[in-house]
Amino acid sequence: MHYQEQTFTIPELKGISSKQIEVHLKLYAGYVKHVNLLRENIHTLETEDKEKHAYTIAELRRRFSFEFNGMRMHEYYFQSFEGGPKAPNESGALAQTLAEKYGDKEQFIAHFTSVGMSRGIGWTILYWDPMGKTPHVAWLGDHELGTLAGLPIILAMDMWEHAYMVDYLPAEKASYITAFLENTNWDISEKRFQK
Ligand SMILES: [Fe+2]
Repeated sequence: MHYQEQTFTIPELKGISSKQIEVHLKLYAGYVKHVNLLRENIHTLETEDKEKHAYTIAELRRRFSFEFNGMRMHEYYFQSFEGGPKAPNESGALAQTLAEKYGDKEQFIAHFTSVGMSRGIGWTILYWDPMGKTPHVAWLGDHELGTLAGLPIILAMDMWEHAYMVDYLPAEKASYITAFLENTNWDISEKRFQK
């Protein structure tokens, strides 16, 4: 089994340049490559000598969630730009669920932004907890640290500096968050939520 790089149809965005997207897609391709490479390397070392390479194999396994989530999180991210910006459907199930917990749209955006402003590199994610029947906005360190077990992802915002440094300085992170949210196609999130 071999993971394939996904393609995304991303229109021209406001506040996020095509150069920024181009650079970022190349980074994404690197994660797909390394997911495949890691799996191949583990297999090769196991076939050669499981005992002798035990420490190396263990380290490669530890590395897997970094590369795998690096691949998958970017797929969630780039998908949100497909089809161009679409505001949340106010009468849709997702908007109503968010309103119940966070108040109106502006209050949700303010909360999502404040999580996005967390120090460090990682992701800000809107999850849905199907067991608790509640949404959560949470910070994910790197690509895999602090993930909430089994919670489907409704929206993922990349907060690594590579996601915005073609267009913004590190101190302008808040402007990138605004641009990300303004370019989000909320129909994609609504579909994820319905699923
Ligand atoms: Fe990224």
